[in-house]
Order: sequence, then structure tokens, then C-alpha cells
Amino acid sequence: RDEASTAGAIALQPVLYCSDGCGAGGQGHAGAVPSVGASEQLNNAERHDVDLGRLNTFGVPARAVRLFDLRDTAGFELLAAAVKESTRVLVLGSGSNVLFARDFGGLVVRCRFKEIKVSSLGGGKVEVAAGAGLSWDWIVRYCVQRGWSGLENLSLIPGSVGAAPIQNIGAYGVELSSCFSWLEALDLQSGELHRMGPGECCFSYRDSRFKSDWRDRFLVVRVAFHLGGQSPATDYPSLQEELSRAGVTRPTAHSIRQAVIAIRQRRLPDPARVGNAGSFFKNPVVDAERLSMLRKEWPELPAFETGDGYYRVAAGWLVESCGWKGIQRGSVGVSENHSLVLINCGNARGHEILALATEIEVSVKERFNLRLEREVRVID
Ligand code: FAD
Ligand code: EPU
Repeated sequence: RDEASTAGAIALQPVLYCSDGCGAGGQGHAGAVPSVGASEQLNNAERHDVDLGRLNTFGVPARAVRLFDLRDTAGFELLAAAVKESTRVLVLGSGSNVLFARDFGGLVVRCRFKEIKVSSLGGGKVEVAAGAGLSWDWIVRYCVQRGWSGLENLSLIPGSVGAAPIQNIGAYGVELSSCFSWLEALDLQSGELHRMGPGECCFSYRDSRFKSDWRDRFLVVRVAFHLGGQSPATDYPSLQEELSRAGVTRPTAHSIRQAVIAIRQRRLPDPARVGNAGSFFKNPVVDAERLSMLRKEWPELPAFETGDGYYRVAAGWLVESCGWKGIQRGSVGVSENHSLVLINCGNARGHEILALATEIEVSVKERFNLRLEREVRVID
């Protein structure tokens, strides 16, 4: 359905409004889309000197000079004016993949669109277009409940629909790009709305064009997926184990969702209880030659083929081998269940988490001569 892509500006399509409590609050980790409190009721609300503490899942304190919540298309002009007045702009979703190392001296923009439009593609397949402000896990559950397969492996990932394409979210053998159709994004410089297909988004492992030259230039307002008809993706080792433990012989979207939720609840800390942003680092990608050199010294080093002759080395193993798993340093630490997850043990400041991340990076570089790339976006 790439024919819908266009480099030019487009008009908004009419949508069906979803009325059964989707979006803020949601379910799963931290309610996924934190509430903004009293001004939640206001349309296209702009606020000044805003506390970001509840708007990031690390739960670190930070303030922003201004925050603009875009709730409908009527807010486009107001938002454009606010952007023009600001020297720095930061696009924020639910704050589950950011670390505020200090206050943000500019305008924070969030899209709170919460509508859903479903179109039949024939043959039991559908296209679901969802507002950027919906909770990601809410839309996954909505689709799985209706038997529209494709998103189930991505169950319980915290965050908003609008942020999902930014790093091409992935889990348990599936990436968003496998069922992505298009997105609509507001160009914050020109005020124009664009529709973009997969080619323009340049998806790869935990990456897209929105993480480089399009960062903070485009506000994603709507994302569309093509669902139904996919065969279940059950190759990921821990997912296979979980399904056989549960006695599932013919996996469905529903049983895969249940299995993924069970693994995640065991392995990853719930940000509602322990501040964190999931994996702080990406898995380094190496070629076959580099992998065999590493394995001469560390034969047990886990690595997974990416399919194009490269291998993804398990960063969790690298970090654990350096002795970081489960450590606590004052108010910051590393999860005892997963060594890629840095945690706020209570009252941590962003710069303390950043200092720990830097120490971990240095130790992995010294021991393995591998550079850990951050997945979490550090705002400093
Ligand atoms: P934010 O953290 O607010 O923003 C992330 C980035 O997206 C920022 O660069 C921001 O500028 C940009 N952005 C946000 N919204 C928009 C928008 N509307 N338009 C343009 N840019 C925008 N990720 C995975 O891929 N797989 C996992 O398995 C996974 N597990 C996690 C587990 C836990 C416990 C946690 C806390 C995080 C996990 N994550 C995982 C990371 C995170 O959930 C995802 O990256 C998620 O998509 C971030 O959504 P968000 O709304 O919180 O975005
Ligand atoms: N491992 C360890 N120690 C650890 C953690 C992992 O040795 O503490 C090794 C084990 O060998 C394990 C392997 O790493 O078999 C893979 O572990 P896991 O299945 O947890 O996957 P991961 O590569 O560590 C990635 C994503 C997660 C995603 C899971 C499931 C990255 C950076 N992280 O973790 O995403 O949920 O796979 O697909 O790619 C996130 O992005 O925030 C995130 C949580």
C-alpha cells in the first residue's frame, strides 16, 4: 500500500473515533502513556515550566520550559507558532526510551491523537490506522482480540503508537517494519502534514530516519499497519520455550501474546515500580570474521544471525561478563534479571544513570573491544 506515500503535503482523512477508554492509562508497564494531570482535559494545551518527572519512565526529575500537547488538527497553527518561538524542540511520547540528564531548555511537543480507523483489505486482512497518542500495548491488545495477527510478538512494549516507528520497535523475532504500512507526520518546520511509506522511513534494527536528520523535525500523528494472514513468528528461542512450557502446539496471535507477556513480566522490571527505560544499549552487530575472533577467546559468546551475513552479539552477556548484573551504586543500578536494563533504585538523577552507563560502556570496550551503542535517547 505504498502508493499512498507522497513527498508532498496531504489532507487529513476522516476517522472513526474510538470510545472505549484507549490511550492514556492503557494497560501493562506504567500504564504506558503517563497522564499529564489536570490539563489532560484541555485541547491543544500549552504549559510553561513543566515537571517532566512523571513523563519519563526512569522517573528522574527534570523540567521543560514549555510543553505543547497536540490533540487535534485545529492545534496545528498554535503548535507552529509555539515552534517558531522556540530555539529547541523535543518530540516526546511516553518517555519510556529517554533519559533526561538535565532540564530541557526548550519546547516539548507531544501528539495525543487517539483515534482508530480500520479498513478491510480483503481476504481477512485489515489496515489499522492508529493515533500517535494511543498506548502501544493497547493497540496490540485491540488487534489481537479481533484476530488481526501481526503485532502480537510486540506485546507489552511500553510507549505510544507514535514512537513505535522511531526506533522500529522489535521483540521476540518481530520488528514493527514487518507490518508497517505508512505514517502521517507533521513537519514542525513547514507545518505540512506528510504521509510516508516504509522506504522513506529507512527502518533497520532499532533505527529509522527519525533518529537522524528527521529527529525532532517531524511529529508522527498517525501510524498504519497491515494485519491478518501472517504465519505466527515463533522462532525466537525464549518464545519457543515459553510456548512449549504452556503446552501450545498450534500458536495463535492470542497464545503468542500471552507467552510474550509472561516472559516480559518475568525478565523486565515494570517501570510503574522500578524506574527504567528497557534495554539501555543495543546489541552490537559484527561480521562473521569478527565474531569468530571474539569466540576464540569467549567460545560461549551468544550471537544471532541477522540474515544478511552479520551477527547480533548479545550485549546483555557482554555487560553481565563485566560483572554489572544486579549491582547497585547509591540510587542507580543494573537489573538483576537483565543486565541491559539500568534502573532507578529511588531518587536517582539522570546524570547519575548516565555516569553508570558510561562506566559500563568503558568496561565493555576494554574487555571485548566492542563499542556499545545507546538505545535510550539521552537529553542533555
Ligand atoms: P519516548 O521515549 O517518549 O521517545 C522515544 C523517541 O521517539 C524520542 O527520540 C522521541 O523524540 C521520539 N518520539 C516519540 N514520539 C514521537 C512522535 N509522535 N513523533 C516523532 N517522534 C517521536 N523497545 C523495543 O523496541 N523493544 C522492546 O522490547 C522494548 N522493551 C522495553 C521494556 C521496558 C520495560 C521499557 C521501559 C522500554 C522498552 N522499550 C522497548 C523501549 C520503548 O518502550 C520504545 O522505544 C517505545 O517505542 C518508546 O515509546 P515512547 O512513547 O515512550 O517514546
Ligand atoms: N543475556 C545475558 N545476560 C542478561 C541478558 C541477556 O547473558 O542479563 C544473553 C542471553 O544469552 C540471552 C541473550 O542475551 O539468551 C538474549 O537475551 P534476550 O532474549 O533478553 O534479548 P536481548 O537481546 O537482551 C532484545 C531487545 C529487547 C527485547 C528482547 C526480546 C535489544 C537491545 N533489546 O534483548 O528489547 O525485548 O530482545 O526480543 O535489542 C528494549 O529494546 O528496550 C528491549 C527490552
